[in-house]
Amino acid sequence: MYGKRLGVNVDHSATIRQARGTLYPDPVFVALLAERAGAHQITIHLREDRRHIIDRDLEILRETVQTELNLEMAASEEMVEIAVRVKPDRVTLVPEKREEQTTEGGLDVAADIAGLKWVVKRLKNAGISVSMFIEPDGRQIVASREVGADAVELHTGRYCDAGSVKERETQFDLIEGAARHGAELGLEVAAGHGLDYQNVEPIATIEEIDELNIGHSIIAR
Ligand code: PXP
Repeated sequence: MYGKRLGVNVDHSATIRQARGTLYPDPVFVALLAERAGAHQITIHLREDRRHIIDRDLEILRETVQTELNLEMAASEEMVEIAVRVKPDRVTLVPEKREEQTTEGGLDVAADIAGLKWVVKRLKNAGISVSMFIEPDGRQIVASREVGADAVELHTGRYCDAGSVKERETQFDLIEGAARHGAELGLEVAAGHGLDYQNVEPIATIEEIDELNIGHSIIAR
């Protein structure tokens, strides 16, 4: 036990539902199972194309989640309006491209400081804690602090996809360094993407990481 919080991302139960346009499996039910099994948070991504989680899921989960609800979303006007109305406990801002299979890279916070400052301010004024999903890169950590984020979520995709032990070590070191840097700047630090029952263990030893968000591997199991 490393004393971390686990956010279970239930998007992929909705992926199966949407594949057939059925009422099942219901991510609301899956979220309850995850909470009963000990999850500290339920994470969902409301995508622009509604390919898995749909508005109804967000609305119902806001009523039923007994832990914390973390909404991943693009920093678009549509999504900010939804978040301010529904009020998840946390919003994690992610980049979003329609063609991607999943969120492929971190948000380039440094490239849009002014725009993101405004989005963060609106969300925080609604009482929502805000996190930035970023690459483990010092520039993005500093930029996240600058836009007023409460937290960062470090993208672990490159670590998980590393093709060699050496590459994995390099990616691990970047995550560890970024976690330390974030904590030094007073940011809460989360990590996620591509983590599974094997590769999570080293990441879970990084002291400065407070929270892990894991979806595909848990839902698949
Ligand atoms: N964190 C963020 C910001 C994500 O976008 C995702 C994928 O939706 C996850 C965590 C979970 O990734 P995975 O499904 O690969 O565990």
